[in-house]
Amino acid sequence: MTNPAIAANGLRKSYGDKVVLDGVDLAVPEGTVFALLGPNGAGKTTAVKILSTLVTADAGRATVAGHDLDHDAHRVRAAIGVTGQFSAVDGLITGLENMLLMADLHHLPKAEGRRTATELLERFDLTAAAGKPASTYSGGMKRRLDIAMTLVGNPRIIFLDEPTTGLDPRSRHNMWQIIRELVADGATVLLTTQYLEEADELADRIAVLNGGKIVAEGTPDQLKRQIPGGHARLRFTDPDAYRSASDALRDAAARDDEALTLRIANDGSQRELRALLDRLDAAGVEADELTVHTPDLDDVFFALTDPTAALPAQPKEHVR
Ligand SMILES: Nc1ncnc2c1ncn2[C@@H]1O[C@H](COP(=O)(O)OP(=O)(O)O)[C@@H](O)[C@H]1O
Ligand SMILES: [Mg+2]
Repeated sequence: MTNPAIAANGLRKSYGDKVVLDGVDLAVPEGTVFALLGPNGAGKTTAVKILSTLVTADAGRATVAGHDLDHDAHRVRAAIGVTGQFSAVDGLITGLENMLLMADLHHLPKAEGRRTATELLERFDLTAAAGKPASTYSGGMKRRLDIAMTLVGNPRIIFLDEPTTGLDPRSRHNMWQIIRELVADGATVLLTTQYLEEADELADRIAVLNGGKIVAEGTPDQLKRQIPGGHARLRFTDPDAYRSASDALRDAAARDDEALTLRIANDGSQRELRALLDRLDAAGVEADELTVHTPDLDDVFFALTDPTAALPAQPKEHVR
């Protein structure tokens, strides 16, 4: 493996007596998307701030783009772009003026700054709005402007802190597409999110952060495999058939009386499916629909982040 774009070892950070990061290790391969997934307050923003040199860790070591955070912070800063959880856009000035301000901060010569700003505004579909005060932009437009501003310095490593929180579904998909394009262009992206679906959709690897620690790390598939047991779902249209089936499977099924569906722990193997079908045959009932579900990231997340959460062997619907 080549040197990771981001590598952290034993990062710790406390505010007062509150431990926010309690020994965090991360390795993000170059040219990949890495999702730091965790609920509110998990320490995601703190981790991003440390790795982007905005805050110093109490302990631990990290390199970003091969540069040590402690000794080479200015080199790290030159290699990265950061889009914070809270917008860096100045609403009082126009989109173009925001961009030119960033170009100045990066000491781009005037003409080059203007060219870069214009190109990025075009790329993020903001040309028509470029002359309007950013305060008039929609949430999705502001977020696109934020990312455009981050890209002015042409960073190879990009930190996106909750890039889609608060966006409507269309803007969210738009942002996903932007992130995919950044990576297709060779950038490395570390994003934070509270959304499993987003991590599943975008990330090559996911780390689940909870209580200041990484409680699981791997590809989306690896994380899903850590959780035992999928389930089969039987759907009926005839209430009588539904009742017969739920009686026959009384010991095994969680029922949803309104939807006329039964959920039965089942690993989806031929053996377990046949056993289920045999029991239905013996009871003389036929389901209108049988579907097999592998555990999804929701199951993983709940199992990993809430110690009182039942493992999926205990179905979510009420158990009879
Ligand atoms: N500057 C700070 N001073 C005191 N506490 C902080 C500060 N920044 C973050 N925290 C606390 O650290 C915890 C983690 O915060 P944060 O990293 O923002 O989590 P996340 O981004 O995952 O929601 C929270 O309990 C938060 O209140
Ligand atoms: Mg945050």
